[in-house]
Amino acid sequence: MSKLVICDHPLIQHKLTFIRDKETNTKDFRELVDEVATLMAYEITRHIPLDTIKVETPVAIADAKIVSGRMLGLVPILRAGLGMVDGILKLIPSAKVGHIGLARDHETLKPMEYYINLPTDAKERLLIVIDPMLATGGSAIAAINSLKQRGCDHIKLMCLIAAPEGVKAVQDAHPDIDIYIAALDERLDERGYIIPGLGDAGDRMFGTN
Ligand code: URA
Repeated sequence: MSKLVICDHPLIQHKLTFIRDKETNTKDFRELVDEVATLMAYEITRHIPLDTIKVETPVAIADAKIVSGRMLGLVPILRAGLGMVDGILKLIPSAKVGHIGLARDHETLKPMEYYINLPTDAKERLLIVIDPMLATGGSAIAAINSLKQRGCDHIKLMCLIAAPEGVKAVQDAHPDIDIYIAALDERLDERGYIIPGLGDAGDRMFGTN
């Protein structure tokens, strides 16, 4: 079964409070999401493997650590996922970035992929699918399906806020995928909003409504 990791670092929780606040303006919202994404990148990379190399300091030879293993790829789900990319790249500047665009099909109400562009070596990378809001889980599941169909099988999911319904749906569909979130909220409302959540993440990030 996949791991659900709630990134409960006090700075993440503090910043999340202001992200939730409806009085927070677009500029501050964007900056706070960026900062939380950086802090969450620290958590999500906590267990990546290290190699030991020799490095010559001014006084001696040291056995020193460097990151090894799979390179990273970030895959934001358009459009709200874009708001977390730069924050992660601050810590992991060598990560490549793919994009997945999903829109709700008006007839089936299911997510329909309208755009996908991945790094050519995506299969070799550890991919982090990014979507601030894990609501029903439909978009995250569709994005992960799409990556798996393309042969990518090292995937993690990073969200700011999740509803229990979304977590369960992703865990049922993809029991191999670890999920990293900053908060697990109460529930979904009848419109599919997370309660208490933060409203529409894309609108708040880009100043639309
Ligand atoms: N997407 C959002 O932006 N907000 C929600 O509450 C649910 C899905």
